[in-house]
Amino acid sequence: MKKTEETLMEKIVSLSKRRGFIYQSSEIYGGLAGAFDYGPLGVTLKNNVKNLWWKMFVESRDDMYGVDAAIIMNPKVWQASGHLSAGFADPMVLCAKCHHRFRADHLEDKTKCPECGGKLGGERRFNLMFKTNVGAMEDDSSASYLRPETAQGMFVNFKNIIDSFHPKFPFGLAQAGKAFRNEIAPRDFVFRSREFEQMEIEYFIRGSEWEAEFEIWRKHMGEWLDAIGINRDHVHEVEISPKDLAHYSKRTIDFEYEYPFGQKELYGLAYRTDFDLKNHGKESGVELSYMDDTTGEKFIPHVIEPTFGVDRTILALLLESYTEDEMNGEMRTYLKFFPRIAPVKVAVFPLLKNKGELVAKARQVYDSLKKEIGVVLFDDNGNIGKRYRRQDEIGTPFCVTIDFDTLADDTVTVRDRDTGKQERINCGRLPEYIKVRIS
Ligand code: GAP
Repeated sequence: MKKTEETLMEKIVSLSKRRGFIYQSSEIYGGLAGAFDYGPLGVTLKNNVKNLWWKMFVESRDDMYGVDAAIIMNPKVWQASGHLSAGFADPMVLCAKCHHRFRADHLEDKTKCPECGGKLGGERRFNLMFKTNVGAMEDDSSASYLRPETAQGMFVNFKNIIDSFHPKFPFGLAQAGKAFRNEIAPRDFVFRSREFEQMEIEYFIRGSEWEAEFEIWRKHMGEWLDAIGINRDHVHEVEISPKDLAHYSKRTIDFEYEYPFGQKELYGLAYRTDFDLKNHGKESGVELSYMDDTTGEKFIPHVIEPTFGVDRTILALLLESYTEDEMNGEMRTYLKFFPRIAPVKVAVFPLLKNKGELVAKARQVYDSLKKEIGVVLFDDNGNIGKRYRRQDEIGTPFCVTIDFDTLADDTVTVRDRDTGKQERINCGRLPEYIKVRIS
């Protein structure tokens, strides 16, 4: 079935709410623009993505070090990083009539309000950082900020990692966590929100080697897309022109995804030069250099930064996996998640809920799967067809049914989400069978 662009987004938003992936934040109070809450399935999906990322880019490598830095940092960090200056501000215009604010760079006509036709005022720069106060005094001396990127938490720990672990060069730091930006116009569900998560890597290299390292990370980012099930044909690498580069970058490639609302940034890959370590060194007075024991060379490393937005990944995964087809003469909707990232791996059904032996056996199967597989659901509500539809809609790759044959020969039916095909599997072999197919 053809996915019409506008309705696809509506379907994703509605499925997310109905089935417990993503809710509007503070909904009972009318919500808060640019803020979202992840429900039980959303948080599991997000954790699966973050865990896979961590496994792939930190645990499976010898050159990566994970950190989890504080969200509120010494405000001098933001002075050194350039985020307090004009570098981290968006151009904003205000409508004199309806008082709506707009990103000037998102408007075709910067003089006329796109909502009410009123006159737009002059452009001014709006810094995106959320300001707060640390401690009891509410004055400039206590002003601080919620981090607008996780990156700086890694740069300020560069020396700690060197002192604790004496890493061989090149090496990288990785962090996943929340970031906050007071976006002028949050929009498109979780695509542009004010509170979001990033997974970032700061990979320290010699300045002379940046081009080769950039290409290596570009390849790794493609491999990541394959690992989570985002079709590379839907992602386009776009070279950012020099005039649009972030204040710290000498070269950036955006990985843009074909969202229904346009081709927009999913991830970024930047060559940050030695901008951050040099400036933090200057501002803090602490030398942030690397000493190569074998060559005796001391230098300030340069940085390649692959950055991955978690929420944009979740949105891309929902869009990628949303499928409508016809099965047994009925329309159905299913999420074609890769089993490794699906929030629920298996659902277990007793054929009938009022047959004690079936329910007891189904509970036994459920317990054994739960021990080995993790997130398993038990569902005895409604007919089997309805139960399949419910699991399809949340992307559960396997449904296991316990019927009267199970009581006779200790086999169950395993039904595949995508094909609807069913196989009989011996109960003893079931956990291993599912485990293999999930990995
Ligand atoms: N440390 C570099 C950095 O923060 P960025 O391109 O500004 O670069 C990195 O952000 C990623 O964070 C983006 O590629 C995107 O996935 C995500 N991101 C940025 N702003 C966002 C927002 N307002 N809402 C959701 N995700 C956002």
